[in-house]
Amino acid sequence: MLKVLVASSKGGAGKTMVATNLAAHYAVDGKNTVLVDADRQGSSLRWCDKRALHVNAVLGLPGLRRDWEKHVPDDAQRVIIDTPAGIRASEVGDYLDQVDVVVVPVLPSAIDLEATEPFLAELAELPRIKRGKVVVGVVANRLKPWTNVSQLAVEEMQRFPFPLLAELRDTQGYVLANALGKSIFDYHSELVHSHQEDWAKLLRWLKKHS
Ligand SMILES: Nc1ncnc2c1ncn2[C@@H]1O[C@H](COP(=O)(O)OP(=O)(O)OP(=O)(O)O)[C@@H](O)[C@H]1O
Ligand SMILES: [Mg+2]
Repeated sequence: MLKVLVASSKGGAGKTMVATNLAAHYAVDGKNTVLVDADRQGSSLRWCDKRALHVNAVLGLPGLRRDWEKHVPDDAQRVIIDTPAGIRASEVGDYLDQVDVVVVPVLPSAIDLEATEPFLAELAELPRIKRGKVVVGVVANRLKPWTNVSQLAVEEMQRFPFPLLAELRDTQGYVLANALGKSIFDYHSELVHSHQEDWAKLLRWLKKHS
């Protein structure tokens, strides 16, 4: 079973977008997938409810209580945990006995980069991460690749202490799909396919750690 924690110190970086798209990817791939929502906003749970109307459903579990693990079915193959904004590195530490991987989405702006740097430095000092028991990867999100701002932000992210595993572009496709309980992995047009490819390196890396 692969367990992925999606966390960032900044709000609005794309945690829920990454968590729901990852969950959908695994569900479409035929894996029994659970999405744990540890954010009281409940966006991931609402997405699971909408998705229940389609094929490739994802089981949503409330994750506000520490006992969520008891409710994960024995046959679950993928567990994705969506966390709230403003999480501290020490709070990420509370999850590290329960997960294999931490994915940190980051937006291409100075505000986000500067807030993320100390968060990642603190993560790097957590014992299970330091010992390599849990691995951490960064995802650049909402990039506008033709802009200087995005290009410089990506260069800066490449200097982070953890690998940059995806460069996701800003597109309404994510917003439209999410509203329907779907993801970009539920569609097959050529345009959507190019956005799916943005996830390929991250998905390969996750497979390596499953
Ligand atoms: N790649 C993208 N392209 C376009 N819109 C995006 C993208 N990623 C996220 N968004 C939009 O940005 C907003 C914030 O994304 P999301 O809710 O996933 O962030 P979050 O980190 O979960 O926020 P919070 O900290 O409030 O939980 C949402 O409106 C979402 O639809
Ligand atoms: Mg969220």
